[in-house]
Amino acid sequence: MRIGMKKLGSASANPTRAFFVRMLTRDITLTDCILDLIDNCIDGAWERAGGNAFTLNNNVELDQYKIDISLSEDGFTISDNCGGISFDDAVEYAFTFGRSANADAESYSIGIYGIGMKRAVFKIGRKILVRSTSEANGEIEAFRVPIDVDRWLAHGDKEDWDFDIESDNPLPEPGVQISVDNLTDNTKADFSNPDFVKQLIRVISRDYSIHLHRGLQISVNGMPVTGWLIELRESAEFTPMRDSYVDEVNGEEVFVEILAGMGAPPPDDLEPGERRKDFEQRSGWYVICNGRVVVAADKSTITGWGTPNWPKWHPQYSGFLGIVIFSAENAESLPLTTTKRSVDATQPMFRRALAQMRKPSTSWIEYTNARKSQRDAAYKSESATNNISIFEIEHSKTAKLPSFTAKTREPVANIAYQMPKNRVRELAAAMGNVGLPYRDVGINTFELAFNELVGED
Ligand SMILES: Nc1ncnc2c1ncn2[C@@H]1O[C@H](COP(=O)(O)OP(=O)(O)OP(=O)(O)O)[C@@H](O)[C@H]1O
Ligand SMILES: [Mg+2]
Repeated sequence: MRIGMKKLGSASANPTRAFFVRMLTRDITLTDCILDLIDNCIDGAWERAGGNAFTLNNNVELDQYKIDISLSEDGFTISDNCGGISFDDAVEYAFTFGRSANADAESYSIGIYGIGMKRAVFKIGRKILVRSTSEANGEIEAFRVPIDVDRWLAHGDKEDWDFDIESDNPLPEPGVQISVDNLTDNTKADFSNPDFVKQLIRVISRDYSIHLHRGLQISVNGMPVTGWLIELRESAEFTPMRDSYVDEVNGEEVFVEILAGMGAPPPDDLEPGERRKDFEQRSGWYVICNGRVVVAADKSTITGWGTPNWPKWHPQYSGFLGIVIFSAENAESLPLTTTKRSVDATQPMFRRALAQMRKPSTSWIEYTNARKSQRDAAYKSESATNNISIFEIEHSKTAKLPSFTAKTREPVANIAYQMPKNRVRELAAAMGNVGLPYRDVGINTFELAFNELVGED
């Protein structure tokens, strides 16, 4: 069967199909395209699960939903059991380009433009098959949409951009299955690169950590993805902040929640490089929009660093973790960019959130300065903290941090000098540890000379 679908407008106003596809797929990465497809599955699952506001407190379980992705040089598939596309939606907009302005706003979804799925499959390859099975009022609706990109492009600029919707045998469960063959050369190169797959899994486990925490199952090439645990540190001296408020965009309410505090103790000069790198990588602000992490570990002006009254990020601030969560029934109210993997920092509602985010950021900056004068006490307090999951953090308008301002610091002098490596190592060995850091060799040397020439302190 062939279903007539909405046309895009007059032929003269249409760009050629090839140009359209090239423009669509140009500024989005392959990973982000895959995330777009996952977003669609989750929108389906979330709506089925009740379509509530995406807050940390609601207890929506997603454990009956699963998304399986497999990718190799030979092809790509993503299949889910998240409810499928209704026949009406397929005809009305799922297979057209762009949603009409009066399309229903979905319940706390992230789909806005009506372009993500098409952009993703075009980016991945040339032979596409979308199959869907859904259930409405006890009736099963099953269809398939095969897209042969080269043939479709060859149709030139004819006004009719329709894809054929054909009847199909139902899938085992209501859901969508998308397979893509004849991969583009770039996709082939990425899919056959183990680092690409590793990175994709890392991003999925980070960006969907809240859904995975709620039981959603995602697998990549048969391997289940485990979600990152988003945790802060807590003790009597350290308490993370957690505050929430309701904002408004074009008359629509947006629920905003901010959590921030110490994610890990700040690194000190003696930390081995790897550990320090890990702290640094995970630190910063995370922005979550309708459940998805869309900005992770940000240290840029997007989340305020280096804007007026807010210092630029410095490795000294490592360990800081902040999370800002936006939840809106209509995703157009969210401060998302069109690829949905960043935020528009100029959006007024986001700027209002930034004003709130500045407080915990700057108090952490002050803390990392103050702790320099009393490192031992700081280490002690910091290591006496426990991890607490973001779901369990109590409401508190400000983060509590130990105050180390009382003691004034004795004036210090820096000593720097260079010596042949062999001699330094020889001295370190004589001090009992050939691996002793150079800095410690220097300090020991000073203490020895001081005791010898000046006498004990
Ligand atoms: N896996 C899926 N499960 C259920 N419905 C889906 C699925 N994939 C796509 N759809 C339906 O197809 C529609 C079109 O998807 P597409 O990603 O192209 O646009 P969108 O999600 O509406 O907007 P955006 O361009 O912002 O992603 C969706 O709105 C949804 O109704
Ligand atoms: Mg989408």
